Amino acid sequence: MDSLIIRGGKPLKGNINISGAKNAALPIMAAALLTNNLTISNVPKLTDIFTMKRLLQNHGSIIKVTELPDQFNLEIDCSNINDFTAPYEIVRKMRASIWVLGPLVARFGNAKVSLPGGCAIGARQVDLHVAVLEAMGAKIEIDHGYIKATVQKRLKGVHFIFNSVSVGATINAIMAATMAEGETLLFNCAREPEIIDLCHCLNKMGAEIEGIATSSIKIIGKTSLNNTNYQIMPDRIEAGTYMIAAAITKGDVNICGISYDVIENLALKLIEAGINVIPNENGVRVIYNDQIKPVDIHTNPYPGFATDLQAQFMSLMALSNGSSVITENIFENRFMHVPELCRMGANIIIKGNSAIIRGVPILIGAEIMASDLRASVSLILAGLTAVDETKVRRIYHLDRGYQELERKLTDCGADIQRITGEV
Ligand code: EPZ
Repeated sequence: MDSLIIRGGKPLKGNINISGAKNAALPIMAAALLTNNLTISNVPKLTDIFTMKRLLQNHGSIIKVTELPDQFNLEIDCSNINDFTAPYEIVRKMRASIWVLGPLVARFGNAKVSLPGGCAIGARQVDLHVAVLEAMGAKIEIDHGYIKATVQKRLKGVHFIFNSVSVGATINAIMAATMAEGETLLFNCAREPEIIDLCHCLNKMGAEIEGIATSSIKIIGKTSLNNTNYQIMPDRIEAGTYMIAAAITKGDVNICGISYDVIENLALKLIEAGINVIPNENGVRVIYNDQIKPVDIHTNPYPGFATDLQAQFMSLMALSNGSSVITENIFENRFMHVPELCRMGANIIIKGNSAIIRGVPILIGAEIMASDLRASVSLILAGLTAVDETKVRRIYHLDRGYQELERKLTDCGADIQRITGEV
């Protein structure tokens, strides 16, 4: 297992180009199952993308990968889908595999998808995915750890209210409804920018989706969707992570290739913390001022503060000149980074779903262990600013979500090095 060695204390200075969004590319790859041919560009080079590729190939897709210097182009041919099972062996590696459920049952009337099970950040149920497909007329059985969904003819359009806001269930429901019979109205939908990207791709495939970017979405089902090509949006969580990296290292970084509206919620919090955030035509420039002020945050569905940036923001708050409270409202166990940050000298106490952070003047390098994707990167951010050397173990999580992280940071002056193959 690889580790990273970071010698902290170097202010980041320069430009960082943002890659395609993992969390948009994954559902859009699953949406390829709704048509014969979908070509997508600006796909990030990440292990999760390979996992989704493997899953689609397992269903019978033929995928041509063109590798460009900073992205993949994928031509996904789903004209001969012959296997409707998403096996545990793949699903356990990546929960986003659940997104083949809606497309398979909508287009082929048959899907058998392994239940993903819980993960490091929480139980992560799939009851809402199941409920909406059942409401559309799918017969669902849970059998030997698998969700089996079948329908005789087509799914039927439905009026459905999600009991709580779920990114994943909204995605499965939208994809399924594009090929259901008649009109579907979905209420209390998630509105994350990645869902908007998926809807734009589906509409380009000939779907009829209205109310995009709102919590009430109307979909008129079609009997088939068309072949098309689509460019994946830039990754706002990657952009946000590097914005915080600029702030925490007392740096000055241009984050390039991101639109300000999708990162404004983070930008506002950074500004409140005393950081200069200046939008420009190609992205945003983040400049450290003279202090980090304490700021409270509550994670919430978009446009609230993203849970996927909570750990990174906590590393920043660990160095503020006062006390702040971070409340995690999406996942029940997303504070795995806290004990590791404390080992670096942070002063953080967890009370229920809140973390109380008393800022300290410096963090000190230590050997630490990464537990999930965003927790891992929050420890890297801490290491970039810490005194002396930090060794982050188990960084395979990072390769799921950050394309060329070491190169992007090194180009801005960081001293960070990967040690391969160590346990
Ligand atoms: C997506 O996960 C993202 N994953 C997550 O990003 C992100 O943290 C999350 O949305 C919230 O923004 C991808 O896009 C691949 P949810 P998802 O369904 O779809 C509960 C990252 O770091 N829930 O909105 O799994 C669930 O347990 C990842 O890139 C149910 O109770 O998130 C959770 O507490 C991690 N029943 C909450 O809702 C359901 O049927 C939100 O989950 C579905 C969800």
